[in-house]
Amino acid sequence: MSSISLSGVSKFWGDTIGVKDLSLDIEDKEFLVLLGPSGCGKTTTMRMVAGLEKPSSGTIHIGQRDVTSLGPRERDVAMVFQNYSLYPQMTVAQNIGFPLRARGVGRNEQRRKIHLAAKMVELSDYLDRKPAALSGGQRQRVALARAIVRSPAAFLMDEPLSNLDARLRISMRGLIKRLHNEIGTSTIYVTHDQLEAMTLADRIVVMRNGEVEQIGTPNQIYNHPRTAFVAGFVGSPSSNLLDGRIENGVFNASGISVAAPLKGDHRKVILGIRPEAISLVNEADAELHGTVLAIETTGDATLVTLSVGKQELIVKREANCTLEPDQAVSMKTSQQGFFFDGESGLAI
Ligand SMILES: Nc1ncnc2c1ncn2[C@@H]1O[C@H](COP(=O)(O)OP(=O)(O)O)[C@@H](O)[C@H]1O
Ligand SMILES: [Mg+2]
Repeated sequence: MSSISLSGVSKFWGDTIGVKDLSLDIEDKEFLVLLGPSGCGKTTTMRMVAGLEKPSSGTIHIGQRDVTSLGPRERDVAMVFQNYSLYPQMTVAQNIGFPLRARGVGRNEQRRKIHLAAKMVELSDYLDRKPAALSGGQRQRVALARAIVRSPAAFLMDEPLSNLDARLRISMRGLIKRLHNEIGTSTIYVTHDQLEAMTLADRIVVMRNGEVEQIGTPNQIYNHPRTAFVAGFVGSPSSNLLDGRIENGVFNASGISVAAPLKGDHRKVILGIRPEAISLVNEADAELHGTVLAIETTGDATLVTLSVGKQELIVKREANCTLEPDQAVSMKTSQQGFFFDGESGLAI
């Protein structure tokens, strides 16, 4: 087991920026999640750690070793991708044992390790099956076992659950978390799914346009977003981001007047408010005035979209919410909102 460290790593293809000046330290045993929208550089980062892509500049260390110019086979990392790429003609046991055979591990040792890994991913009863006779979730568990069996220095997982249906994703998420608790191998896990990141990570790296937007624990990312982008990416639904101006300690925009503990008049500011941090109040106490545009029921809650001035606001209400389209609504923030600079997007 090892730490991994990236120092000033960039990757360019001509004018295309994949990753820009990325510095990261993944501690031994840490579960680090790279989170961000499609195209932000997650896979490129992962491929450079794996040795499948050579950085344009910067260095990568695994443990004490500088692996920057080493190939994938010399790095002792195991990868699990979205496409499980199993060998169709091999059984589950043969697929799991493949990395061991490739390394010339003895037959008995192979058997022992295959059985142990299969047990960890709950596939002991499927060892003689071929991949074609497995479900998507079972195939992905074979891929996990094939990674585990190597006892690598680190696991690299790139959107491993995105081909699975929603229910299976949740149970596989639980399995990956349990496996990590058991094995403790340093893991870099890539996802665009903020909930997956929040539930799995020791720390999350939020990426945007090839650069780090924020690094922190799930708690820090959720409760202290460093930028408006992070606030707008995390949470379900994510924070509302409202444009306005600070005037005499009040955040003002059409239909909005929220007390703001900020100095500097006539300054462009973005207010971040969670959908669950808005309550309905009497007209006299209102900070926000809106009109209901749409109502969606999720089963355990109701999501209400309102127009507030020229902006839209999503409010999360209880399941039996009685609001109706076109209804005028007076609202108040029930938690302190986040304030971001209107130009830089940085938290104020
Ligand atoms: N081989 C490549 N050649 C040129 N551009 C690439 C290549 N691989 C990735 N990119 C670009 O680099 C950026 C980051 O891509 P990627 O790391 O795959 O993003 P993510 O995994 O976060 O969706 C994108 O703009 C993508 O188009
Ligand atoms: Mg990707």
